[in-house]
Amino acid sequence: MTHLELREKFKEFFKSKKHVIEKSSSLIPIDDPTLLFTTAGMLQFKPYYAGIKKAPYSRVATIQKCFRLSDLENIGKTARHHTFFEMFGNFCFMGDYFKKEAIEFAWEFSTQVIKLPIERIYVSVYEKDDEAFKIWNEHIGIPKEKIVRLGKKDNFWGPAGDSGACGPCSELYIDMGEEKGCGKPDCFVGCDCERYLEFWNLVFNEFFQDTDGNLSPLQNVGIDTGMGLERLCYIMQGVESNYQTDVMKPIVDAIIKKLNVKYEDKNKTKINLIADHLRALVFVLAEGCVPSNEGRGYVLRRLLRRALKTSSDLGHKGAFLNELTGAVIDVYKDIYDYLPKEEENIKRILKDEENKFLNTISAGMNKLYSVMEDNKDSKVIKGSDAFMLFDTYGLPFDITEEEANDHGFTVDKAGFEEAMEEQKKRSRGTGEDKKSKFGYVANFDTKYVGEDLNNLTNGVKAKVISVYNDNTVIVTDVSPFYGEMGGQVGDNGYIETSDKQTIKVTDTQKKENTIIHILENNNHSFKEGEEITLFVNADRRMAIRKNHTATHILQRVLELTLGNHVNQAGSYVCEDYLRFDFTHPDSISEETLLNIENKVNEVVFKSMPAVIKYMSKEEAISSGAKALFGEKYPDTVRILDIGDGFSVELCGGSHLTNTSEVGYFHIVSEGSAASGVRRIEAITSLKAANEATKLFSKVKNLAHILNASKIEEITIRAENLQNEVKKLQKDIKQLKTSGASVTSFMDNYEDLGGIRFYNLEFNEDIKEVRLYADTIKERVKDSIAVMISKTDSSNSILVQLTGSAIKEKKLSANNIIKDIIKTAGGRGGGKDTFAQGSIENIDKAKEEINKLKSTWL
Ligand code: SER
Repeated sequence: MTHLELREKFKEFFKSKKHVIEKSSSLIPIDDPTLLFTTAGMLQFKPYYAGIKKAPYSRVATIQKCFRLSDLENIGKTARHHTFFEMFGNFCFMGDYFKKEAIEFAWEFSTQVIKLPIERIYVSVYEKDDEAFKIWNEHIGIPKEKIVRLGKKDNFWGPAGDSGACGPCSELYIDMGEEKGCGKPDCFVGCDCERYLEFWNLVFNEFFQDTDGNLSPLQNVGIDTGMGLERLCYIMQGVESNYQTDVMKPIVDAIIKKLNVKYEDKNKTKINLIADHLRALVFVLAEGCVPSNEGRGYVLRRLLRRALKTSSDLGHKGAFLNELTGAVIDVYKDIYDYLPKEEENIKRILKDEENKFLNTISAGMNKLYSVMEDNKDSKVIKGSDAFMLFDTYGLPFDITEEEANDHGFTVDKAGFEEAMEEQKKRSRGTGEDKKSKFGYVANFDTKYVGEDLNNLTNGVKAKVISVYNDNTVIVTDVSPFYGEMGGQVGDNGYIETSDKQTIKVTDTQKKENTIIHILENNNHSFKEGEEITLFVNADRRMAIRKNHTATHILQRVLELTLGNHVNQAGSYVCEDYLRFDFTHPDSISEETLLNIENKVNEVVFKSMPAVIKYMSKEEAISSGAKALFGEKYPDTVRILDIGDGFSVELCGGSHLTNTSEVGYFHIVSEGSAASGVRRIEAITSLKAANEATKLFSKVKNLAHILNASKIEEITIRAENLQNEVKKLQKDIKQLKTSGASVTSFMDNYEDLGGIRFYNLEFNEDIKEVRLYADTIKERVKDSIAVMISKTDSSNSILVQLTGSAIKEKKLSANNIIKDIIKTAGGRGGGKDTFAQGSIENIDKAKEEINKLKSTWL
């Protein structure tokens, strides 16, 4: 049975059991900062189990994309482990069904739908779960000896992340045959070997585990089951491992072909590992992650580097993963239609990262060998050294560890992690520091009223709640001041005290729901309960709003122009400009940047409405809002919807009501902010318009300088100028080289009784020849020079006399040239010292020159 058929059968079966078939959620959990990746099918339903949120259905089934690092060491070695994999699962939240039905469904699907042989099926239950034991034994009819009771480690599941639903579980196993076993006498269900293969895990969620590890009963018990798709294919297709199923084999085959290796025992683990990692890379990259030194990015980096290192163990040199993305996408393109659209990007990121690694690996390895040499007595690599190898040489920890282990060394992992943590602390932004500065401020729910523009213009009356720091930090019951948050700077403005004193508010911060006003030094003594009036600097706020809404437009345009991998990596919005950091692997060409700017301005000029809405998190995400990974959002979220769905973003900041208010948008700079992260800085409104005007005037000025009557001509003129400069540079070079021949022609004379006679011929323009003549004039006191220039277009001649040739011999250049022309034909003349002309017959000219020479002796 193919994987496509299995998918259909699974969906059909659970549909018939009244389950809604839901889509796989993203590989990256949107709402759970404690998890890097979606590790199980139940993740998208976590709030339903916990009763935090009411589920829209009571039964649901999915085929979920999952990613787990927990089995990294086993990848490739066993037949059954993966980093990325898919999981079939049925779920129930509201106590609609529990153990009995979950077991019945699993049994019916396994034995009647896909018809696994009953005699090969075994089950495990949690050691204390008599109820499940009884269901399997008495209700389903599995003999007691085929039901194994296992402890918490094996048969108690969850929670996923730092808290959530969990409970005892029961697993279905299939006997893959004695030949797959380890041969130990006690090899049975629960053994780590390949014989008894666990294929379906039924979790009976009964408890909620809080972040401290305390268990409390769930309001409603739930069911969460998971069955690995690859394992099921392995069982159903009668192949030797997951890697030979129809989901993995095409990928394995592509690798074999590319690396030109045989799929034989000594290579299999390595080829399987590459196949696993390549597939995982494609899927995670397709979700917009990029390789980096932290979090998910670091996981990507590790997978890629492991795959490359393994390929080099197989004798392959160079990048290749980027060439094999097609093999993965071909398998999945009908299931995940977004994959083909992302392929180009994935390829590019892979290629870039592969090359980066290949450039650093040899240096890193060499350094590792020298570290090993230095520590050959202890055979331990210090954590600080492992960190240095990682940080300076880009050598991932597991490669260091693998290589070290191969040479009989161990690595101090705890020390490495400590060093890593230290670095993280160092690189953490200043934002946190700023906030933690106000740790002393007591929490209070300040009512924020700064959205209503009337409150900005008219001021807001408020009561002082608390006062700190010599009357420079105050909290009020209501406030129109926006406290710095989500990249938007805090407001400034002023307050009016009860006795009509005016005090400047220099900044506003936010701590939880407390708005903290920071005031300039003052002599007022605030009283709790004192009534004051708060005035926000409304012009500044307006400028901030423009930049903030423009940031949202920019983000959407970037997604549309560069691809879906664009994710926000940071932003800063103030009155002067906006800064937006986003994930993107390459630099952006000038042309694309211009296109981005134009598209943002199109949105500005289309006067699209910008509306703040409140909705459930799910609703926001399904309407396209890109929540920030790793952030925790409340159930009801605030979104900014631009152009009725053009851009939908979760945001707590201040915005315009129509895009036209941005006025005009202009990108000031684009560059790299960190590895895989680009930064755009831009300005809006009058500032942007002024900048554009300034540029326009500069261009006009340039046109004037270049003598271009139309602006379009500037480029042509500038190009011409460039060409001319190039030519001149070439000429100068030539001149300089022929300068070398100056010395040689300078020696090429005949001595006519103390007068140097230069009788020379050049294949150069007469202008150049004149330069040579000048050199003679400068350097030789008494000389007669007759110099012929012979080019394709003309024959010229010059005669030049210096010193005694004129004074004593009384010769005249003019006479000489006239004599020559008379014989050889041509025109010309000059003075006694210098004459120039053209000649028709060079040979005759030469004869005449020789004749004349004899008269000068
Ligand atoms: N959550 C359980 C697992 O991942 C069952 O889906 O194994």
